[in-house]
Order: sequence, then C-alpha cells, then structure tokens
Amino acid sequence: MCGIVAYIGKREAYPVVIKGLRRLEYRGYDSAGVALLNGGKLNVYKKKGKVAELEDHVVGKDLHSVLAIGHTRWATHGEPCDRNAHPHLSGDGKLAMVHNGIIENYGQLKKELLSKGHQFSSDTDTEVLIHFIQEIKKSNQCSTEEALRIALKRVVGAYVILIVDEDNPDTLLAARKGSPLVIGVGKGEHFLASDASPIVEYTKEVVYVNDYEIAIVKADELILKNISNEIQTPYIQKLDVELAAIEKGGYDHFMLKEIFEQPQTIFDSLRGRLDAKAGKLTLGGLREHTDLLKEAKRIIIVACGTSWHAGLVAEYMIEELCRIPVEVEYASEFRYRNPVVGKGDVIIAVSQSGETADTLVAMESAKEKGAIILGVCNVVGSSIARLSHAGVYTHAGPEIGVASTKAFTAQLAVLALIGLKVAMEKGTITEQRFQHLLDELEDVSDKVAIALELNEQIKKIADKYKDARDFLYLGRGYNFPVALEGALKLKEISYIHAEGYPAAEMKHGPIALVDENLPVVFVATKDSYYEKIVSNIQEIKARKGMVIAITTEGDQVIPGMADDVIVVPEADELVAPIISVIPLQLLAYHIGVLKGLDVDKPRNLAKSVTVE
Ligand code: F6R
Repeated sequence: MCGIVAYIGKREAYPVVIKGLRRLEYRGYDSAGVALLNGGKLNVYKKKGKVAELEDHVVGKDLHSVLAIGHTRWATHGEPCDRNAHPHLSGDGKLAMVHNGIIENYGQLKKELLSKGHQFSSDTDTEVLIHFIQEIKKSNQCSTEEALRIALKRVVGAYVILIVDEDNPDTLLAARKGSPLVIGVGKGEHFLASDASPIVEYTKEVVYVNDYEIAIVKADELILKNISNEIQTPYIQKLDVELAAIEKGGYDHFMLKEIFEQPQTIFDSLRGRLDAKAGKLTLGGLREHTDLLKEAKRIIIVACGTSWHAGLVAEYMIEELCRIPVEVEYASEFRYRNPVVGKGDVIIAVSQSGETADTLVAMESAKEKGAIILGVCNVVGSSIARLSHAGVYTHAGPEIGVASTKAFTAQLAVLALIGLKVAMEKGTITEQRFQHLLDELEDVSDKVAIALELNEQIKKIADKYKDARDFLYLGRGYNFPVALEGALKLKEISYIHAEGYPAAEMKHGPIALVDENLPVVFVATKDSYYEKIVSNIQEIKARKGMVIAITTEGDQVIPGMADDVIVVPEADELVAPIISVIPLQLLAYHIGVLKGLDVDKPRNLAKSVTVE
C-alpha cells in the first residue's frame, strides 16, 4: 500500500527510481511522484495516475541527480490528484518527503501548525508531517535528523518516510514504524524501497529496517539509530530472489504468469519438507514448537482476504486431522473486539505479504496476552515473519499481480503440512491416512498442471458469461472456502458483483437472486458432500439459473445437469481445493481481460495493505 523507493550514489538516480516505482506499482497506483536533488536544488515532479503518466509528464524536464526519492500512491487522505500526490514539501520548500502509512494524529498536528501560520496545499497527512518536522527544526534550531527524531516521538500511526533536504544534499533520511523498508547496500550506493523488487537487480545485500529505527544514508555510509539516538548495527542479509521472478517472462499479465507458475510454486512450498517415499514430513521452522501446537487448547487463524480463505480451508483440515478446535478470524475484527485469548492458544497468522497491518496488530495483541504466534508467510523477512515466534514460509516467490493466486495454493499446501505434522505427532491420524495424504500432496503439482490445460476452454466460458451482472459461487466442506475465493477473484478483477456461499445456505436467502440471468458456479468435485451438492445444483436448475460446474474426472451425473462443465483431476478432498481453485482463477482472469480491464492493477486495490 503505497510504494516508496530511493537511490543515493553515483548513478543517475531518476532512472533507478522510476524503474523501482514501476516494480512497486502493484502497491498502489493512484498517482506517482519523484523528488530529485541535484546539488543544492530540489526538483519535484508528480502526477495523478500510473507511473507511465508521470514518465510522460517529466519529458524535457531537468532529471539530473544522484539522490532521488519516489512514491506510488494508494490514497488514504485526500482524493487521487496531482495536489495530493507525493512527494510533499515543507513550507520553506527545502525538505521533500514520501510516506507510506497513516499519521493518525495528523488532525491535531495540523491544527497546531495552522495556528503558527503554516499553509497546506494538499489534504494529506504526509504534508502535515513534513511541515511539523520543519517547524521543529526552526524552533529548536536543530538538524533535520534531530527534528525528525523529535517529531516521531509525537507521531501516532504507521509510517515509512523518506526525506531529502536541500541543505544536506549528500544525505537521505528514512524512518520506519509498522510499514516495511528495505535498504540495498551496493558499492558506494544505497537503494531504499518498500520491498526488495526494485533492489534485486543492483545488489543482493540488504538490511531490513526495524520499527522505531532511523536510517541516515549517504552514498558510501549507512547509519542506523533508534529513536533515542543510539547507534544500531545494521544486519546485512542476502536476498534470495532472482530478477526473472519479478518480470512477466513473456506472459501478458503477472496474474496469468502467476497462475501458470503454480505447479512449480506448490512444488517449491513442499520441497525439502515432504518426502512421501520415505513417509516423512519435516517442518524446520516449527521444530521447537510442534509440542505447543500438539497441546494447543485452541488454534486461532488470523488473516485477511485470500489468506483468510486459506485459513478457512485449514480449519477443515486441522480439525479433521488433529482434533483441535480451530477458529478463523478476520484479523481486523479479532483485534478490536477484545477477544478471549491467552496462554495455551496458538495463533497462526497467514499472509502473503507479511505486512498486512490488520494481521500484524491482531498478532501483536494476542502475543501480549500470552498466545504463541506462528506465521505462514510468503515474503521472507517480512514484519509478520519477524513478529512470529516460529513459522513456515510458503516459498511461492514474489507475487506481483494484485489478485493473489499462487500464494493461496502455496498457503494451502503449507497449512496441510502443518495439520499433518501435528496430527502425526499427536496420534490423531492413522499411518495409512498419513501416507495417503503425503502421496496426494506429492501428486498435487502434476494435477494442477493438468487443470491449467483447461485454459482455452475456460476462456470460451468466460466469453459466454462476461456480461453477467452478478455471479453466485457455491461449494460445501473443503470447497466452500474455494467458492468464496472464486467470488473474490471475480469481483477484484472484473468488477462484477459475485457472492460466495456454502451451497446449503443458498436456500436461506441467496436463492431469491436466481433466475435465467444468474450464472452460478458450483465447486462440486467428488467428496463426502457430493450427493448433497448435486441436489443443490438441481435446486438452481429448477429455477432456471445457469450452472457452471467444476467437477471431477469420471463424474457421470453433474455433466448432464450443468450448462458448462470444467473437469479437474480427482484428489482427496483435503487436497482438492488446491486444484479446484485453478479454474476459478482462470475464469476471473479471462473475464477481466475480455472486459478490457487492467487485471494486474484492479481499480482501488493495492497489493500490500499496510494501513488498518
Ligand atoms: C485478494 C488479495 C487480498 C489479500 C489480503 C491479505 O486477491 O490479494 O485479499 O489476500 O489483502 O493480504 P496478505 O496475504 O498479504 O496478508
């Protein structure tokens, strides 16, 4: 949510920063801007719209600089427009700032500044903060660094901020609390960004800045201090991401590339952990915590969006395999309703980005109350990964398309491993079932590859239904969360209204929507609910609804009832969601593309939701 990027070194800074903004555009794309410091002269260019519009806007302008900051915005305070785009300037025009996050007490600060004669040209909290820093600098006669430190002690909220100062043209200041910041360490140069994607092509050495740290960055020096002005030792880590992983690689969209990567990403999420031949399962990240999980009174899964859907599938898995009660909570609700949680509870936080603000605060509050926190994250070194007592990475590689696809299937694979591991240790699963599920997981990548061969058929189905106004998605048991996920994908990508429901619940209300214009997608693979879902299909057909059914190979019944049938390989019901979601991802993708929409950057969305 908002992408920030900066460069300081010997290269021309603008091309590095603009390329970085293009890579971070998935985080927000309402407007974009750069501040370039050329010696003692600050040039700020910003524009409503995507990064490409900023690039058009700067043609013919002075772009020379060796120090630059840039921003791509997902609006929080103030509509998307040139005026509200970052960077923002201090009243004297000497300081420029970009910001990711929310300054919650900006209203109070603004009031104070207005009474001191400050004037604002935007509606943003960011402009208030840079004016506040300038005011402290003036009244305390101190450096920008000192003023920043004093200001941050009064700031309530979450932020990553970057500041350039006309009077200090060889220094870049950065600070973090609650939003991510990575610093790439090169030879005589530094790269700063919201994630590693703008950095990876220049250096593999990075420092993840911690909350309440301030970085004072020069071309050949990086100093980290805490908010009390004490020097901290930067911990340099090696990035494990290749450039190819963050490029489209011949696909029209990242979303399609990521859907098609799934046989490999699922394999990667299982690699080194699952050895079906030897009947073994190793989860290094949980080694010291398997006992706590085994003895857990209760497991609470906290997550948002697609990750929450993965959590729902895990509820079915873990309750069945481990006989431990599982609750799945929207992180945002869990945090604010003062939940009963404490010692003996295990929280599993599921997140692709590892930066989702709601999930982070939910974890923090449960941790304070004594619960054990496990993270299931995709982004290595992310805030959620670091806040967890232990965890398992999903290893799906960078997910750039705003709609989550490969992260979801990797989450399902990893959550299945966790359930199986605990069940085995706890003795709640027979050896035979354990081995069967290991074999099923070993085969799942190949079955996903077979499901992907349905792409052309699904494109035709997409064409047939692309003009529908509403869609209903129905499933039962393990496939109920898959129905929710299918509906979410369609909403996000095509802006068609779609609802997901447990198929039986349909009779309690949604059935009123059914007529000859309503496509109803049934996730109806062969499982223990099969007979029941067949009846639900009949109920829809009796009311003239159009049925698109995801079924299993060899099904003789549903093809005779549905208008369109998508046949996927058979799998154990616990593993089936990893396969049955594939056609739903493709359906949403093709409908979005056929409607001429930007599927990688859907309206109003951002990839990493770092505000509550
Ligand atoms: C849906 C989507 C979002 C995310 C949600 C949580 O396609 O991408 O619903 O799943 O914002 O994000 P993470 O998993 O990064 O915590």
